[in-house]
Formats: sequence, C-alpha cells, structure tokens
Amino acid sequence: MMEYCIFSLSGLGEVVLIFVFSIEKIHSSNIRKGVVMELGRRDFLKGVSLAALAVNGGIQAAENSMKAEEINALQQELDAIPGDEFRKFRGMGPSFAAEERDALYTKWPVLRRFDDAFLKVMREIEEVEVTDRPAVWYVYNMGVIVKTRQSLFSIDLSHRLSTMLVDKFDFVIITHNHYDHYTEKLYQAMDSRHKTVIQNFRDNYGACLHVKDGLGGFSRGECRYTIKDVVIRTYETNHNHLLKGFVMPVEVQVGDYTILHVGDTFNTGDLRPERTPDLFIHHAWCWGSSNQTMDGINAFHPKCVVIAHHCELGHNKQTGGGGVPLARAYAKKAEAEAAGTHAIAPFWGDRIA
Ligand SMILES: [Fe+2]
Repeated sequence: MMEYCIFSLSGLGEVVLIFVFSIEKIHSSNIRKGVVMELGRRDFLKGVSLAALAVNGGIQAAENSMKAEEINALQQELDAIPGDEFRKFRGMGPSFAAEERDALYTKWPVLRRFDDAFLKVMREIEEVEVTDRPAVWYVYNMGVIVKTRQSLFSIDLSHRLSTMLVDKFDFVIITHNHYDHYTEKLYQAMDSRHKTVIQNFRDNYGACLHVKDGLGGFSRGECRYTIKDVVIRTYETNHNHLLKGFVMPVEVQVGDYTILHVGDTFNTGDLRPERTPDLFIHHAWCWGSSNQTMDGINAFHPKCVVIAHHCELGHNKQTGGGGVPLARAYAKKAEAEAAGTHAIAPFWGDRIA
C-alpha cells in the first residue's frame, strides 16, 4: 500500500513536472518566435500582443511588422465603437468619474488604448532631452506633439486628455475647424491663459500677447510667426471641392529641421513649401484622393513621409463614414518605400522623430 502511495505520488510528481516543463517550453519558444502554438490566436492577441501594443504605443504598427491577422484583429477592435460614442468620449475632457471611464474601457477596449497613448507621450515628453533636432510624437489621427529645446507645441491635437498639457504648451496649431483636428476644451484653456492658438477660424486675442510678429493666432492668407525657437508659416488650401480655403497647412522650422503638416489639404498641388521637409505629415486618403503620398514625394522630396489620418474613430463606420483603415495606411507606406523614401505609418503614441 505504502509502495503504491509512494509510486502514485512519484508518478503525480512526474506528471506535474512534465506539465510545467511543457508550458514553460511553449512560452519561451513562442516569445522567441512571436507565434503561439497552443493558445488561440485571438486570445493571444487580446491577452498579450494587443496589451503590448497599448504599452508600446504601436511601435510594431509603425514598423509595419504586424501580420495580416494582427492588423485585422486590431482593426476589429477599432471598428467596434460607433463614431458618435467615440466623439462623446473624446469630448468628456480628462475629469469624469473613473468608474464611468472604466466601464467604457471595458465596453470598448480601444478607448483605453486611446488614453494610454496620450499618457505614454506625456511621460516621454518629460523624459526626452532635446538637443539639435526636435522630438515628435504621433498622438492620434493627424495630431502630433513637438518638443524643441525651448518649446512644446501641438499640431491638430484631438484628444480628450489634451488639456493635461495646457500648462506645458507654448502654443498650439490647428489646421482647420473639424472635430478630428482640434479639441475645443484645449482651445478654451489655451485662450484663457493668453496662450497662442494659430488657426484659421476664430479670434484668439490671447495670441497677441505672445507672438513677436504682432500677429494674433487667427491666420488668413500667408502668415509667418516666430515663437521662441520655432518659425511657423501658414497659408490656405482647399479641403475639397466645396470647402475652399478651409485648411491651413503649416510649415514649421526648428533650426535646420522642417516639418510640413498639411492637415486635410485635398490637392497636393496647392501646397507651397519653401524648404525640403524632414517630415511630411499628410492624410492617407483625403476625400478619396489616393495620390497624396506619391504626389508629395515627387513634388517635395521629403526625407521622411508620415502616413497619417488613419484609424480615426469619429468617422462613423456604421453609417458609412469614411475612416481610413490601418491596412490602407500600410499600403501607402509600402508604396512610398518602393519609391525609395523612408516612410512611417505610425500608430497612437509612437515617437516619429
Ligand atoms: Fe480630418
């Protein structure tokens, strides 16, 4: 009996040991190869890969190393939330009840990813020390944040948490008056602090106190501003055949470094950059125009092309609104790379320069 018990325990021990060894073996090989054998693919993406993306701000997406099924899984998560629900969430600002926020995170996990991206950028802004070249982060849609030696500013920042940076921003740029390119609460917070908002649709009296050139932030025709170590040039382009002169493309110069952010400019031929862009940030598919990436490369010879305005969640998928899927941004990136140009299709929270 005793022998039998000992034998049984010993046998059980062997089973356990084998089991633990097997699990360990699966995990280590999976981590090395980036594949999953025993877990379901979707479970893995939900449990590991997508969580890692949230933490890393989509670095895999920026490097375009995601497999087709990973892109599809992410796209499904992005598409799950109705556009009007997302716009409501984005408009809430940073201060609403944590329980309510968490319930929304549970209902639509993409919202946690959206917030995490902003918090990641905020952390990195504090950590990164800028030397000769500015640091640039892609936050969401066409929203970027730029840190220079002397300044911090945003272009087209559309995010519910954006006012968390109002005290740190020296100024803010908005290319046009559309919800996916600016945040009303941020505009109001900047204006009430007499901080410059360079845009083309509203008086901004506070700007007059801070812009050296004696211009307010309200920009029409061609304008040029100097704020600290940043020179900003703006003019007008069409958003489409109906909204003429509606968009304010911006050419930003920091020392020898130039960022060309074109907002929702429909026709690349309307753009008039003065310098070769280091970063050419443009819409992946503005108003159905698929030519902007290659048109911009051929016309301006940018050192790096940034494919933006994809995965915008406020465009209502359920009613046929025109959000640009991630896969299409990757296709534009591949097209640019085939032409020999460095291209990035960043995801939320990525540092792009
Ligand atoms: Fe837009």
